[in-house]
Amino acid sequence: GPSPGERAKDMAGRRLLVTAGPTYEDLDPVRYLGNRSTGRMGIALAETAAVRGAEVDLVLGPTDLTTTVNGITVHKVRSAREMHAISVMKWPKADAAILAAAVADYRPAEVSRKKIKKGDKPLRLSLVRNPDIAAELGQDKKDHQRLVGFALETDNGLENARRKMKDKNLDFIVLNSANDEGAAFGHETNKIQLVNDVMVTEFPLKTKLEVADDILDALLLLLTA
Ligand code: CTP
Repeated sequence: GPSPGERAKDMAGRRLLVTAGPTYEDLDPVRYLGNRSTGRMGIALAETAAVRGAEVDLVLGPTDLTTTVNGITVHKVRSAREMHAISVMKWPKADAAILAAAVADYRPAEVSRKKIKKGDKPLRLSLVRNPDIAAELGQDKKDHQRLVGFALETDNGLENARRKMKDKNLDFIVLNSANDEGAAFGHETNKIQLVNDVMVTEFPLKTKLEVADDILDALLLLLTA
């Protein structure tokens, strides 16, 4: 076995797709709609999987954070549509995907080529739906593939998580409560529940690297089952 301080390469030979970070949806040459995701949880998942021997494609939205860990190919993207294009391209060869990105559900119906000028009247934006990456990968999921999603909820967390899991054909979902102190956006730590259709496993507040190990342990059980 591995000597102390050395990690077991228990994900050797596995190909993993990870989405992480926010998306930016351009409105005009200088403005966009975005969100507060830093990508830290997804990057921690990619790094931990790579250290455990996996080959990782990390599709990373616009964030200052990145990674140089060996075994990770970083695909930098900006919009949900760019993230979608790379993800569907990489999915067929992946054993599993973990969708940790905070993908914008909507984008501006049109991108103005010129900077939008202010006027006296209120400005109304028209938004259209973005592709749902999780749902699409779920639709194209083969028997040997495993798919993990994230949910950030303020209310009815468990119920919503299970509905999302079913709708998107996920194997399990990582549930973050937006009400937990020290968890989710912008923090080094996270407090999660792993939810499938029959179980809820609750974990204490941990660093995002420790949380990544817990998620990958659960995934690996399903990949070897
Ligand atoms: N997701 C995705 N593509 C999208 C939207 C979401 O891949 N266009 C993924 C996220 O990465 C996450 C999960 O789906 O793994 C979140 O589900 P979603 O239903 O989008 O959550 P919310 O946007 O919070 O849903 P709602 O607005 O219904 O609460």
